[in-house]
Amino acid sequence: MARISASVFTSHVPAIGAAIDLGKTTEPYWQPLFKGYEPSKQWMADNKPDVIFLVYNDHATAFSLEMIPTFAIGCAAEFTPADEGWGPRPVPVVKGHPDLAAHIAQSVIQDDFDLTIVNKMDVDHGLTVPLSLMCGQPEAWPCPVIPFAVNVVQYPVPSGQRCFNLGKAIRKAIESYDQPLNVQIWGTGGMSHQLQGARAGLINREWDNAWLDKLIEDPQAAASTPHIDYVREAGSEGIELVMWLIARGAMADVPALGAPAGSPAGPAPTVRHRFYHVPASNTAVGHVILENNV
Ligand code: DHB
Ligand code: FE
Repeated sequence: MARISASVFTSHVPAIGAAIDLGKTTEPYWQPLFKGYEPSKQWMADNKPDVIFLVYNDHATAFSLEMIPTFAIGCAAEFTPADEGWGPRPVPVVKGHPDLAAHIAQSVIQDDFDLTIVNKMDVDHGLTVPLSLMCGQPEAWPCPVIPFAVNVVQYPVPSGQRCFNLGKAIRKAIESYDQPLNVQIWGTGGMSHQLQGARAGLINREWDNAWLDKLIEDPQAAASTPHIDYVREAGSEGIELVMWLIARGAMADVPALGAPAGSPAGPAPTVRHRFYHVPASNTAVGHVILENNV
């Protein structure tokens, strides 16, 4: 049986990728941000998983307004870093895990979540920047990665509660896989930021940190956050945070899929690392590592 050992939550920003690729991580603007990920890189080295299930959003790179899957699972053997306008990032090709991805698609679709199956897809900063933050600049990524793209760009986007429930279905799927794999699930994007319109540049430290508290201690409460709260309090791109709820819903302390809220569940996870930094470009960067205790 495969198991989920830990979840990782982190913001993504294209400028973070550029800072790494252009050797600027020790510059005064960037140094405090990258310092916050030093423990995370050590933790990754010490806790190398067999597979990462990486929840992220595509930014009109692989998809466009012509086709907008709400949830898309990458089932290919590999995924090429995308050209987002300045050429592809100089990072390794992302190797997939087609067999586990196909198993998860089978299980989660039979549990009534409609996933789009993707067999060819370039991956943008939403996926590669979290990998760079956690793994640095290796020759190859440390393990296969299953990309899981969520539409948070074009309304209507999925609710936090639906994402949370989907996380439960993903845990059930992973735990019913017949190989003894150590799987990490990552939720990425957010925190507060707004890239356009009258409120461009919006940052909300207080709300972000209160939401992080909830994510860790009372994830059902975080999942109940209505859409309008993300947009009002964390800006139009703050809605990326619903993706963190997929990873959180897959952790052992959350009641199983279909069980009523409050049903018995596993022990609370250990908070291995928590970090918050403003700004990185236009974005408030939040980061948490949770370890399962089962
Ligand atoms: C920025 C943040 C994002 O989440 C993104 O997708 C693009 C840009 C930014 O802060 O610059
Ligand atoms: Fe984004």
